[in-house]
Amino acid sequence: MPYPVFRPRRLRELPLLRKMVRETTLRVDDLIYPLFAVHGRGIREPIPSMPGQCRLSVDELAKDAKDAAGMMIPAVLLFGLPKAKDPRGSEAYAEDGIVQQAIRAVKDTIPDLLVITDVCLCQYTSHGHCGVVEDGRVKNDPTLDLLARTAVSHAEAGADMVAPSDMMDGRVAAIRETLDEAGFQETPIMAYSAKYASSFYGPFREAAESAPQFGDRRAYQMDPANAIEAIREVGLDVDEGADIVMVKPALPYLDVIARVKGEFGIPVAAYSVSGEYAMIKAAGRLGWLDEERAMLEALTAIRRAGADLVITYFAKDAARLLERGATP
Ligand code: PBG
Repeated sequence: MPYPVFRPRRLRELPLLRKMVRETTLRVDDLIYPLFAVHGRGIREPIPSMPGQCRLSVDELAKDAKDAAGMMIPAVLLFGLPKAKDPRGSEAYAEDGIVQQAIRAVKDTIPDLLVITDVCLCQYTSHGHCGVVEDGRVKNDPTLDLLARTAVSHAEAGADMVAPSDMMDGRVAAIRETLDEAGFQETPIMAYSAKYASSFYGPFREAAESAPQFGDRRAYQMDPANAIEAIREVGLDVDEGADIVMVKPALPYLDVIARVKGEFGIPVAAYSVSGEYAMIKAAGRLGWLDEERAMLEALTAIRRAGADLVITYFAKDAARLLERGATP
């Protein structure tokens, strides 16, 4: 029915009508807030490339987690910087490792807040790769056992969900099996399934001191040019027992999010990564765009593409704005 019978603008004139026909909602319930734990006490060390985000000692991290919970953010995602790095990333699976301590502190302070943990080795290995290195190469199968140990140690410390981000083949199955054997049959896995070898992780690697010391991550993370392969990766993770699958980064991969959502009947998470955050923050600071509106627009777009959950460093800012009824 063409113009003049149909006039799409009829539904755009009145703010309340616009609100009623809005197709996508962004709710605080959809957000996951990432936090970085460091050893020490009373530490709040700002991360230069991620304005507003800090490396936090466990006592401070518990306070921030409490803040987030107070804003009704349902979940945090924990990362850690170890005291010392070694070739096999041993602090990743140490009982008193930094993330294990942070999990306990958050659970002691706010038992109801969901604690999700990133399961990977790159913050903990001296070479900065996500797996065991032999002969200058990242070896898949010897890494699986270490990842599974890491996941179990997180569950033992009280994590509600584990999120493997390493991109080794078969790691979801290995983690599922090991969690089950250890009595954690009920602990869900949110798999970083379609994780791309992206330049948008730059600020995170500075924050987490996890840049690879030689080469890059292209031998295990996905080629940004590939989307069909993402479907295959997600399918494998679903078959191996992933409860939630993730696409990462988010904004440059909205097509992948949409395809994954269309193809699989399981919850999809999208990680709006450090570089996406840094871009909006930087342009906002320069006065080149309206930071608040750009943030809400970006997060809404990620939801519109099909993400059920959005991991974002903007979680607190967005929660504040959504509370006031803001829309993009
Ligand atoms: C660990 C990991 C990374 C991110 C999340 N988990 C870094 C990487 O793969 O190099 C990136 C998150 C972000 O950029 O916000 N493997």
